[in-house]
Amino acid sequence: MLNPNPMTDVRRPMSVSRMLVAAGLLVVAAGCRQDMHNTPTAQPLRESHFVKGVSSARPLVEGTIARGTLQDDAAFFTGKSDAVLVDALPFPLTAEVLDRGEQRYNIYCAPCHGVSGNGDGMIVKRGFRQPPSYHVDRLRTLPLGHYYDVMTNGFGAMPDYRAQIAPRDRWAIAAYVRALQLSQHAPASEFPQEERDKLSKPAAAAAPGGHK
Ligand code: HEC
Repeated sequence: MLNPNPMTDVRRPMSVSRMLVAAGLLVVAAGCRQDMHNTPTAQPLRESHFVKGVSSARPLVEGTIARGTLQDDAAFFTGKSDAVLVDALPFPLTAEVLDRGEQRYNIYCAPCHGVSGNGDGMIVKRGFRQPPSYHVDRLRTLPLGHYYDVMTNGFGAMPDYRAQIAPRDRWAIAAYVRALQLSQHAPASEFPQEERDKLSKPAAAAAPGGHK
């Protein structure tokens, strides 16, 4: 029967022999000096101490976002806003952005698309499928977001560059491709008078410098 009042629970005093055993165990345990040798840390790919039969590296809870990697700006990260390709750089255009774009373009795109975007890069000369020139009307008039999208997801025979090129650099390249397009298709009226004069002179004087 249960004791109605636990406070009156009378326990038998420990026998002398038991006390001796307990004291002996204490001495032995102290002699082992385990200190912090066995810490209860989780070894990432070993079995968990906490839940049997599973790895202590637990899968991420669905929807987990690592600090600093929240992609809450759809236009910046996908090139689309409400499923429509955006036609503007999602950050201010500066000379540094274009320089960066030129450098990345020459590394990642020129091998196929050529330094001036004609689609005559070295890999194409060696037999890879020839991409279209950037200087055709269809590509000139496509929104900037299309270039970002092609780099992010690939396009037909072209592989994607999502892993190699960070989002901001993809935009910088897209801006640089626009600059390349303008370099081959700028209306003369946009040039300063001095340059226009040069254009109307005989070809030798107006020979355009090659793209570096
Ligand atoms: C390995 C060669 C290769 C590289 C490197 C490459 N491309 Fe391409 N690209 C292609 C080919 C081939 C096509 C044509 C694909 C097709 O039509 O199937 C293409 C097509 C394109 C198009 C046209 C899409 C359209 O609407 O027709 C764009 C824009 C483009 N590439 C941008 C880039 C940019 C920017 C880079 C650098 C980040 C790049 N490409 C790197 C091979 C390449």
